Amino acid sequence: MLLLLTLSALLAVPAVLAVPTSNSARLANTDSSLTILYQNNLNGTDDANHIAAILLGASPASQAAKACGTLNERLISRAAIEAHYDDFYHQLSYLVYSGRANANQDFIISNGLVSFNQRRACLDFKPTPYGNRRLSVLCTQSANASQPTTAVATSQNEITIPAGRNKYVGYRNLKSWRFSGIPYADQPQRWHHSSVYSGAGQTLNATVFGSQCPQNGAGSEDCLFVNIQTPYIPKAGSKQKLKAVYFWIHGGGFNGGVGSSPGTDGGNLASREDLVVVTINYGKF
Ligand SMILES: *[C@@H]1O[C@H](CO)[C@@H](O)[C@H](O)[C@H]1NC(C)=O
Ligand SMILES: *[C@@H]1O[C@H](CO)[C@@H](O)[C@H](O)[C@H]1NC(C)=O
Ligand SMILES: *[C@@H]1O[C@H](CO)[C@@H](O)[C@H](O)[C@H]1NC(C)=O
Repeated sequence: MLLLLTLSALLAVPAVLAVPTSNSARLANTDSSLTILYQNNLNGTDDANHIAAILLGASPASQAAKACGTLNERLISRAAIEAHYDDFYHQLSYLVYSGRANANQDFIISNGLVSFNQRRACLDFKPTPYGNRRLSVLCTQSANASQPTTAVATSQNEITIPAGRNKYVGYRNLKSWRFSGIPYADQPQRWHHSSVYSGAGQTLNATVFGSQCPQNGAGSEDCLFVNIQTPYIPKAGSKQKLKAVYFWIHGGGFNGGVGSSPGTDGGNLASREDLVVVTINYGKF
C-alpha cells in the first residue's frame, strides 16, 4: 500500500509539490507535458530506420522552437516527417484515436504545421498561420539509442522533473523517458520492517539502476529501488490523461532476479503499449 502511494506520487505529480521559484532552473515539465512519439514495430534491428518525435503541449508559434530548445531539440522538419511518413501517420492518428488530439488538429513543426486528416486518411502540411494561436508542438528526438543496454544519460538527453517531495533527474532514449534507481524505501535496518522513503527536498539522480538485493553472494542491502519507463510525463501539477501502470515484479525465489534486467526492460512495452512500466527490486534479508 505504501509502495503504491509512493508510486502514485511519482506518476501523478500531485499539486502539493514544491513549485520551482522563478530564479531556479525551469524543470523539463514546468510548461508542458512531454510525450515521446515512436512507432515501435518491436523489431530491434529495424530501429535504425525509424525516428521519434517529442510532443509538447500547446504553445504560441513564436515560442515553439524555444520550447523544443529546453530539451536540446529543434522543431521537427516536414522533410523528416515525410521521410518517415507511415510512422507519423500512425502516431498522429493514434493521438486522435486515443483522445489526446482532436481530429484535424494542427501541430507546429519547423516552418509550418502538420495534421492528421481523418477524412482523407493522410497527413496535411500547411504554412505557419498568422497570429500566435497556441498549438501543440512537435520537436525532434535526437536521443536515438534504442536498446536498454545502450541507453545512457548525457547532458543532452537528461531531464529533471518534480515528483512527490523531490526532484528526479531521468533521461530519454529513442523510445521512452527513463527513471532508474528511484528509492521507494529507506535502506532497511536488519531485523526491522522497511519504511517508505523519507527523503525530501532533494534532487535525486535517477539515471542509473540501483543494486540488486543480497542474493547468492552479490548485491547490497541498499537495494529498494523502482525503475520507470514511460512515453508520457504529465505537465507538473497536472493529473490529465495519466497512463495505466504496468507493474513488473521479477521472479527468482529470493535467490536471484532484479528489476533492471535488459530482457524485462520496460522501454519497448511502454512505447508499444502506451503504458507506464514500473519494475522493482526487492529481497529478503
Ligand atoms: C526487422 O528489420 C530488419 C531491418 O529492417 C528486416 O531486415 C527484417 O526483415 C525485419 N524482421 C521482421 C521479422 O520483420
Ligand atoms: C544517432 O545519432 C548520432 C548523433 O546524431 C548519429 O551519429 C547516428 O548515426 C544516429 N544513429 C542512428 C541509428 O540513427
Ligand atoms: C548519476 O550517477 C551516475 C553514476 O554514478 C553518474 O555517472 C552521473 O554523472 C550522475 N548524474 C547526475 C546528473 O548527477
